Amino acid sequence: MKVFYCSLLLSSFIFSCAEGDPNAINDVYGDSESSQKYAAGEEVYTKNCIACHQSEGEGVKGAFPPLAKSDYLLADKNRAIKQIINGSSGEMVVNGETYNSIMPPQPVNDEEIRDVMNYILNSWGNNGGEVTLEEVKAQR
Ligand code: HEC
Repeated sequence: MKVFYCSLLLSSFIFSCAEGDPNAINDVYGDSESSQKYAAGEEVYTKNCIACHQSEGEGVKGAFPPLAKSDYLLADKNRAIKQIINGSSGEMVVNGETYNSIMPPQPVNDEEIRDVMNYILNSWGNNGGEVTLEEVKAQR
Protein backbone atom coordinates (compact mmCIF):
# COMPACT_ATOMS: atom_id res chain seq x y z
CA MET A 1 0.00 0.00 0.00
CA LYS A 2 2.83 2.31 0.92
CA VAL A 3 4.47 1.83 -2.42
CA PHE A 4 1.16 2.73 -4.02
CA TYR A 5 0.89 6.01 -2.16
CA CYS A 6 4.51 6.79 -2.68
CA SER A 7 4.09 6.51 -6.41
CA LEU A 8 0.86 8.49 -6.31
CA LEU A 9 2.29 11.32 -4.27
CA LEU A 10 5.78 10.99 -5.56
CA SER A 11 6.72 14.60 -5.70
CA SER A 12 5.46 15.72 -2.31
CA PHE A 13 6.32 12.63 -0.33
CA ILE A 14 9.46 11.38 -1.94
CA PHE A 15 11.61 12.38 1.00
CA SER A 16 9.37 10.91 3.67
CA CYS A 17 9.05 7.71 1.67
CA ALA A 18 12.77 7.51 1.19
CA GLU A 19 13.20 7.83 4.93
CA GLY A 20 10.62 5.12 5.46
CA ASP A 21 8.43 7.35 7.56
CA PRO A 22 5.31 5.29 8.31
CA ASN A 23 3.34 8.51 8.86
CA ALA A 24 4.10 10.01 5.47
CA ILE A 25 0.51 9.83 4.26
CA ASN A 26 -0.92 10.99 7.57
CA ASP A 27 -0.24 14.60 6.73
CA VAL A 28 -2.92 14.38 4.09
CA TYR A 29 -5.75 12.35 5.60
CA GLY A 30 -5.05 11.85 9.29
CA ASP A 31 -4.48 8.11 9.11
CA SER A 32 -3.98 5.52 6.46
CA GLU A 33 -7.24 3.74 7.18
CA SER A 34 -9.27 6.84 6.39
CA SER A 35 -7.18 7.62 3.32
CA GLN A 36 -8.31 4.29 1.95
CA LYS A 37 -11.88 5.21 2.78
CA TYR A 38 -11.58 8.46 0.85
CA ALA A 39 -10.01 6.71 -2.13
CA ALA A 40 -13.02 4.40 -2.27
CA GLY A 41 -15.31 7.41 -1.94
CA GLU A 42 -13.55 9.21 -4.75
CA GLU A 43 -14.30 6.23 -6.98
CA VAL A 44 -17.98 6.34 -6.04
CA TYR A 45 -18.00 10.09 -6.65
CA THR A 46 -16.38 9.77 -10.06
CA LYS A 47 -18.85 7.12 -11.10
CA ASN A 48 -22.06 8.61 -9.71
CA CYS A 49 -21.82 12.29 -8.84
CA ILE A 50 -19.18 14.01 -10.91
CA ALA A 51 -21.39 14.53 -13.98
CA CYS A 52 -23.54 16.96 -12.04
CA HIS A 53 -21.44 18.16 -9.12
CA GLN A 54 -18.20 18.39 -11.16
CA SER A 55 -14.66 17.32 -10.47
CA GLU A 56 -13.87 19.94 -7.84
CA GLY A 57 -17.33 19.76 -6.28
CA GLU A 58 -18.02 23.17 -7.72
CA GLY A 59 -21.37 22.24 -9.30
CA VAL A 60 -22.91 24.21 -12.14
CA LYS A 61 -24.36 27.57 -11.25
CA GLY A 62 -28.14 27.61 -11.52
CA ALA A 63 -28.39 23.86 -12.14
CA PHE A 64 -26.32 21.71 -9.78
CA PRO A 65 -25.36 23.04 -6.37
CA PRO A 66 -21.75 22.91 -5.20
CA LEU A 67 -20.52 20.39 -2.64
CA ALA A 68 -17.23 22.23 -2.13
CA LYS A 69 -17.65 24.46 0.92
CA SER A 70 -21.41 23.90 0.73
CA ASP A 71 -23.09 25.34 3.81
CA TYR A 72 -26.09 23.11 3.06
CA LEU A 73 -24.07 19.89 3.00
CA LEU A 74 -21.96 20.74 6.02
CA ALA A 75 -24.99 21.79 8.10
CA ASP A 76 -26.65 18.37 8.17
CA LYS A 77 -24.95 15.11 7.29
CA ASN A 78 -28.06 12.98 7.82
CA ARG A 79 -30.01 15.12 5.42
CA ALA A 80 -27.30 14.59 2.81
CA ILE A 81 -27.34 10.81 3.36
CA LYS A 82 -31.14 10.78 2.95
CA GLN A 83 -30.80 12.81 -0.20
CA ILE A 84 -28.36 10.35 -1.76
CA ILE A 85 -30.76 7.51 -0.90
CA ASN A 86 -34.03 9.17 -1.92
CA GLY A 87 -32.94 11.88 -4.30
CA SER A 88 -34.10 15.41 -3.85
CA SER A 89 -36.34 17.95 -5.48
CA GLY A 90 -37.70 21.37 -4.67
CA GLU A 91 -36.09 24.56 -3.62
CA MET A 92 -32.87 24.66 -1.64
CA VAL A 93 -30.47 27.48 -0.89
CA VAL A 94 -26.79 26.58 -1.09
CA ASN A 95 -24.22 29.25 -0.30
CA GLY A 96 -26.80 31.94 -0.91
CA GLU A 97 -27.91 30.62 -4.34
CA THR A 98 -31.36 29.13 -4.82
CA TYR A 99 -31.55 25.81 -6.66
CA ASN A 100 -34.80 24.19 -7.65
CA SER A 101 -34.00 21.09 -9.55
CA ILE A 102 -34.06 17.31 -9.30
CA MET A 103 -31.39 14.98 -8.03
CA PRO A 104 -32.39 11.37 -8.78
CA PRO A 105 -32.00 8.69 -6.09
CA GLN A 106 -28.47 7.33 -6.39
CA PRO A 107 -27.81 3.66 -7.17
CA VAL A 108 -25.32 3.16 -4.34
CA ASN A 109 -25.25 0.81 -1.36
CA ASP A 110 -24.70 1.80 2.26
CA GLU A 111 -20.93 1.27 2.15
CA GLU A 112 -20.70 3.40 -0.97
CA ILE A 113 -22.78 6.13 0.66
CA ARG A 114 -20.47 6.12 3.70
CA ASP A 115 -17.43 6.29 1.45
CA VAL A 116 -18.73 9.02 -0.83
CA MET A 117 -19.98 11.06 2.15
CA ASN A 118 -16.56 10.89 3.77
CA TYR A 119 -14.98 11.89 0.47
CA ILE A 120 -17.22 14.92 -0.11
CA LEU A 121 -17.04 15.95 3.56
CA ASN A 122 -13.24 16.01 3.37
CA SER A 123 -12.42 17.25 -0.13
CA TRP A 124 -12.03 20.63 -1.83
CA GLY A 125 -11.38 22.44 1.44
CA ASN A 126 -14.27 20.78 3.28
CA ASN A 127 -13.53 19.68 6.81
CA GLY A 128 -16.84 18.07 7.69
CA GLY A 129 -15.95 15.09 9.83
CA GLU A 130 -16.93 11.54 8.98
CA VAL A 131 -19.99 9.32 8.95
CA THR A 132 -20.15 5.67 9.97
CA LEU A 133 -21.94 2.80 8.29
CA GLU A 134 -24.38 2.75 11.23
CA GLU A 135 -25.25 6.40 10.65
CA VAL A 136 -25.96 5.63 6.99
CA LYS A 137 -28.12 2.60 7.85
CA ALA A 138 -30.09 4.70 10.32
CA GLN A 139 -31.31 6.90 7.45
CA ARG A 140 -32.83 3.98 5.50
C1 HEC B 1 -28.25 14.15 -12.28
C2 HEC B 1 -27.49 15.11 -11.51
C3 HEC B 1 -27.03 14.74 -10.11
C4 HEC B 1 -26.32 13.64 -9.71
C5 HEC B 1 -25.85 12.46 -10.56
C6 HEC B 1 -26.08 13.82 -8.30
N1 HEC B 1 -26.65 14.98 -7.86
FE1 HEC B 1 -26.56 15.75 -6.00
N2 HEC B 1 -27.80 17.27 -6.52
C7 HEC B 1 -28.28 17.46 -7.80
C8 HEC B 1 -29.26 18.54 -7.77
C9 HEC B 1 -30.03 19.08 -8.97
C10 HEC B 1 -29.35 18.97 -6.44
C11 HEC B 1 -30.32 20.02 -5.89
C12 HEC B 1 -31.66 19.34 -5.74
C13 HEC B 1 -32.82 20.24 -5.37
O1 HEC B 1 -32.91 21.36 -5.88
O2 HEC B 1 -33.64 19.79 -4.54
C14 HEC B 1 -28.38 18.16 -5.68
C15 HEC B 1 -28.09 18.33 -4.34
C16 HEC B 1 -27.14 17.63 -3.64
C17 HEC B 1 -26.73 17.87 -2.27
C18 HEC B 1 -27.27 18.95 -1.33
C19 HEC B 1 -26.93 20.33 -1.79
C20 HEC B 1 -25.49 20.70 -1.64
O3 HEC B 1 -24.93 21.14 -2.65
O4 HEC B 1 -24.90 20.56 -0.56
C21 HEC B 1 -25.80 16.94 -1.96
C22 HEC B 1 -25.07 16.79 -0.62
C23 HEC B 1 -25.61 16.09 -3.11
N3 HEC B 1 -26.45 16.55 -4.11
C24 HEC B 1 -24.75 15.03 -3.16
C25 HEC B 1 -24.65 14.15 -4.25
C26 HEC B 1 -23.83 12.96 -4.26
C27 HEC B 1 -22.95 12.51 -3.13
C28 HEC B 1 -24.03 12.36 -5.48
C29 HEC B 1 -23.45 11.06 -5.97
C30 HEC B 1 -23.65 9.88 -5.13
C31 HEC B 1 -24.95 13.18 -6.23
N4 HEC B 1 -25.30 14.26 -5.44
C32 HEC B 1 -25.37 12.92 -7.52
C33 HEC B 1 -27.93 16.75 -8.94
C34 HEC B 1 -27.24 15.57 -8.94
